[in-house]
Amino acid sequence: MEITKFERGLVGRVAIVTGAAVGNGRAFCERLAQEGAKVVIADVQNSDELASRLREEGAEVVCVQADLTNPVDVERVAATAIQTFGQIDILVHNVGYYHEEPFELLPFDEWKRTMEITLDSAYHMVRSVLPQMKKQGFGRIITFSSDTVWLGTPYLTAYVTAKMGIIGLTRSLAPEIGRYGVTINTISVGLTATQNANMGQVGVTMLEHIIPAQSVHRADEPEDIANVVAFLALPASGIITGQTINVDGGVARH
Ligand SMILES: NC(=O)c1ccc[n+]([C@@H]2O[C@H](COP(=O)([O-])OP(=O)(O)OC[C@H]3O[C@@H](n4cnc5c(N)ncnc54)[C@H](O)[C@@H]3O)[C@@H](O)[C@H]2O)c1
Repeated sequence: MEITKFERGLVGRVAIVTGAAVGNGRAFCERLAQEGAKVVIADVQNSDELASRLREEGAEVVCVQADLTNPVDVERVAATAIQTFGQIDILVHNVGYYHEEPFELLPFDEWKRTMEITLDSAYHMVRSVLPQMKKQGFGRIITFSSDTVWLGTPYLTAYVTAKMGIIGLTRSLAPEIGRYGVTINTISVGLTATQNANMGQVGVTMLEHIIPAQSVHRADEPEDIANVVAFLALPASGIITGQTINVDGGVARH
């Protein structure tokens, strides 16, 4: 989708997007940059290729290679955003991890790893941006859950538990921070065609299986999620907080 310079809603805003080296996060960076935002990409992997492409399109971008389960790395992300761009307006905390296993075979280490990457990283990231957002009197925090929380998808107990935790964090924090002009909302994402090449055959087969169960019979694309991210990030969305918006083509009608 082409956005003209007159329609850009995030000009001058600074957005941190986590987990953007591959998958949905890339589409979020692209969309936020198209809306005029300056982007800080935070990922444990190198994101230079994405950053170069966004810069070629005219965006201001900085990359921070960071493990967001590590509070020291997380602080480095927030500090880089402030040092480079002077503010933090938007946090899109997209990092998540799942491991498929019957519950009785699930090692406790995998349970803890899922919690650490999916839920604990949100604790660290949100805390790292809040002081700056409160100081500014403006902030938009967007977290990610999954439609598996509504569907109760089996063999994903750790992931579904962590993603329910994300909803709890979002709901409980909203009334604590609303008075500072800071909102927090979560998007529960359905199976998304994250660059089909990346998904592998299992992902493609799952998509083929899920599309008939959707209300809208086409694959959920990263750009569909990015559209909701951009909407929630807008200054005009400041009355929406503590909510969970389900984007899955209508598999779960939550
Ligand atoms: N893709 C889907 O079908 C789907 C469905 C439901 C929910 N979700 C959720 O949407 C979000 C994005 O999904 P995706 O499929 O694009 O994910 P992905 O696994 O393709 O990408 C995750 C990104 O996070 C980064 N990352 C992982 N651990 C990290 C860490 N400790 N520190 C920093 N970066 C780290 C990875 O390097 C990667 O770039 C996740 O929260 C996921 O749970 C995705």
